[in-house]
Amino acid sequence: MNNLDIVIDESCRIVDETLDKLIPSAETEPQRLHEAIRWSLFAGGKRFRPVLLFATGQSFGAPREKLLRIAAAVEMVHTYSLIHDDLPSMDNDDLRRGRETCHKKFGEATAILAGDVLETLAFSAVAEDGTLSADLRIRLVAEIARAAGTPYGMVAGQQLDLEAEGKNISIDALNNIHSLKTGSLIAACGRAGALIGGASEAEVKMVEDFSRELGLLFQITDDILDITQTTASLGKTAGKDISARKATYPSHHGIVETEKLAGEVHLRAIEFLDPLDRPTDLLREIASFVLSRTS
Ligand code: IPE
Ligand code: IPE
Ligand code: MG
Ligand code: MG
Ligand code: MG
Repeated sequence: MNNLDIVIDESCRIVDETLDKLIPSAETEPQRLHEAIRWSLFAGGKRFRPVLLFATGQSFGAPREKLLRIAAAVEMVHTYSLIHDDLPSMDNDDLRRGRETCHKKFGEATAILAGDVLETLAFSAVAEDGTLSADLRIRLVAEIARAAGTPYGMVAGQQLDLEAEGKNISIDALNNIHSLKTGSLIAACGRAGALIGGASEAEVKMVEDFSRELGLLFQITDDILDITQTTASLGKTAGKDISARKATYPSHHGIVETEKLAGEVHLRAIEFLDPLDRPTDLLREIASFVLSRTS
């Protein structure tokens, strides 16, 4: 295993341990709700957002125990977004993380509620994080809420993504959708790691710029993988974007040009790290991983 694989493995292990402690057991009443949450959460996601948060925290010397709950919280928000993204009224998907989607397995009402719980549990995990000062907890609640909600966050992006189905939208509009639906939460992970490590506001801004570009790249590669990979390797239905007439990078630029643009976004992302007087090797490795990922 190379260095990044080891970091990813270790990050997955500790974030899963933390999530397991924060989420009620499957035996807790109402059982169906807790089973549904655990079904979606512990289904083998890549834990990319926690990995980025740990790596950014590490660049700023943040002790790991101060990053754990925040990483778990962001993963809860992300998993909630996937559960809702898959609903029949949104992307209408049957497969997620290699298993049936939450609504397929537990019904639509329970899936909606499982998403709701994951979002609220995420914010209580941050608010009750005894390893952080009250000021920092309030700041992180505000940062994550802004990134998850509207008008600058994931929910706004999801609304625009649905409205863009079947339409010919401009490249600026497409970048805005990708940046909101996926970039905002990923940018919040970078910011959170930096803030917990005591970064200055100028440093937080540099990390924000890097991770927002990285978030855009993450969605561009998601769009590419939808075309180039199989359902089995993705653990979600391949080819869905074309059948749903989604506005994506390949639908806008074609696959060859999209791969070229992905390379440019990657370079733009890592350039934001140049002025940062901190260790950035791991962040650069993460950026290369996002560019060349296959799942
Ligand atoms: C999928 O996210 C949805 C996007 C924002 C592109 P991931 O590719 O991180 O999904 P998991 O968490 O590994 O399942
Ligand atoms: C989802 O984008 C972004 C979210 C905020 C969940 P997609 O709809 O492309 O994600 P997948 O391909 O279903 O994972
Ligand atoms: Mg979607
Ligand atoms: Mg989707
Ligand atoms: Mg997709």
